[in-house]
Amino acid sequence: MSLNVAIVGVGNIGNIHGGVYEKRPDCTIVAVCDIIKEKADKAATRYNCPGFTSVKEMLASGIKIDAVSVATAGTENGGDHYEPTMELLAAGLPVLGEKPISNNIGHAEEMVALAREKNLRYGINLNHRFTPAALRAKEWVEAGRLGEINIINMTMWINNPNESSPWFHIRALHPHSLDVMRYYGGDVEKVQAFFKRGPRKDGPDGRRVCWSNVQVNLLFKNGIIGHLTGSYDAGGSYGLETLEVVGSEGRFVLLDACEHLTFYPRFSRQTETYDYLGGMMGFNETFNSRISKWVEQNIAKVSPDEIDASGAAALHVQRIIEAVIESWETGNVVTL
Ligand SMILES: NC(=O)c1ccc[n+]([C@@H]2O[C@H](COP(=O)([O-])OP(=O)(O)OC[C@H]3O[C@@H](n4cnc5c(N)ncnc54)[C@H](O)[C@@H]3O)[C@@H](O)[C@H]2O)c1
Repeated sequence: MSLNVAIVGVGNIGNIHGGVYEKRPDCTIVAVCDIIKEKADKAATRYNCPGFTSVKEMLASGIKIDAVSVATAGTENGGDHYEPTMELLAAGLPVLGEKPISNNIGHAEEMVALAREKNLRYGINLNHRFTPAALRAKEWVEAGRLGEINIINMTMWINNPNESSPWFHIRALHPHSLDVMRYYGGDVEKVQAFFKRGPRKDGPDGRRVCWSNVQVNLLFKNGIIGHLTGSYDAGGSYGLETLEVVGSEGRFVLLDACEHLTFYPRFSRQTETYDYLGGMMGFNETFNSRISKWVEQNIAKVSPDEIDASGAAALHVQRIIEAVIESWETGNVVTL
């Protein structure tokens, strides 16, 4: 079977989705849509398909579409996803949305609920854990190689000067880090957080508007304890992400999602390291692996609750983020 795909929102990331689909022999891009006509036209030319300036028009065209990428952005990089996603789900089409699922929890809940009501596959591009190294580490966890997991630590930081909202950093970046933590630790029950705004010479009080540094303590439902360090003021030339999962028999450290994975046994000094497992060299390749998984799961017609990094999973992560904000604003430990 070949999958007929459409892309809504053909900016930077929509075209990365397009690049993945266009290379796959089992996909045909049959329509693109952007509210900016020049962008819709440019993408239509690139992918050799009709271009539309609204989802309504695209749906009315009668083109047979099997699945749609929604790569809109908006406030906190998530404000524009709701409207097109609801229209597409209402029309019975599976959707792969971008992260954050939404910057508005009510909207995220409605999208997940509509997908469930319609029994539709709904995935989110939480791409960081779609790597051979993350999968190898998951196999170690599931085979009991780490023993009982006690601690999960994650650091994710990039240089990002975005000042469009106080909560841009936590809402737009940390769906990724928290999704990876949840992949190994399960659902989160409680959080406690502190933020710090980094310096900015021309900022209102010499500081950034954005809460650009964060420390979060997490208690997972199964008793695992975790910690997230996040920053838009750190990172630099190397090192986007460091994950450490610590068990009673050993721990692993995964650097930069796919680049270096090391297992450290607790009672021996004989470590085991894999560099660039599966030939994956860098984070940018995770778009291909995550979107390919979505394509394969659609072609296999898996049940909506089997979708990896589903809308429901992304909603859970967004709830953690809102609890983090509440914790900082109230000074309390917040229960989800
Ligand atoms: N998964 C990742 O690793 C990753 C990395 C970066 C960005 N992102 C996400 O990708 C998304 C897109 O980011 P971007 O940088 O490409 O943004 P962008 O602004 O370049 O592109 C968004 C496009 O959507 C269009 N659009 C808005 N509303 C629309 C609607 N209702 N119908 C059709 N088109 C509409 C805009 O005109 C624009 O062209 C964001 O949600 C962002 O958080 C994900």
